[in-house]
Amino acid sequence: IGGNKMNLKDYIASIPDYPSKGIVFRDISPLMADGEAYRAATKQIVDYAQEKEIDMVVGPEARGFIVGCPVAFELGVGFAPVRKPGKLPRKTISVSYDLEYGSDTLTLHEDAIKPGQKVLICDDLLATGGTIKATIELVEKLGGVVVGCAFLIELQDLHGRDKIEGYDMLTLMEY
Ligand code: PRP
Ligand code: HPA
Repeated sequence: IGGNKMNLKDYIASIPDYPSKGIVFRDISPLMADGEAYRAATKQIVDYAQEKEIDMVVGPEARGFIVGCPVAFELGVGFAPVRKPGKLPRKTISVSYDLEYGSDTLTLHEDAIKPGQKVLICDDLLATGGTIKATIELVEKLGGVVVGCAFLIELQDLHGRDKIEGYDMLTLMEY
């Protein structure tokens, strides 16, 4: 897949006060809407993953699918979806994590990863790190080895990176 000389930030829309006042929402949909930009972003993650001998890509719903599936396709490996409770039809494992108010739960089919498989986790954006941390825990519960985490965007002020210290990580854009 194609070249690398694009400024990917040209394809991120920044929406002030969405979904609530004071938040600047970073929207990846213009990037996905542009075939060349979407391919360029995918290629950067594929290049990062290439020497890691990945067995499976895992991505949390919904935007982790958008990033992870083309990477898995290009690597020629499978993709396993991490989903909210009640969405996966067979036997699942789950991990809960704290939010500012309350908590959230994510689930994964219990046969999605085989012990010892090398896993790349993909998502669109790293914010507080709660989602990536829970996703890592799900993979590790099944005996998978998380060899990398790839994001299009890192929101540096939220220090999500600190939650996944010790894990290899790629981010394509920082804000
Ligand atoms: C967003 C985003 C990441 C997560 C990052 O997903 O796509 O998965 O939040 O935030 P965190 O680092 O603070 O956990 P969201 O939960 O909005 O779900 P969606 O992709 O289904 O819209
Ligand atoms: N943009 C997109 N998704 C998000 C954001 C954001 O700024 N913060 C948390 N999830």
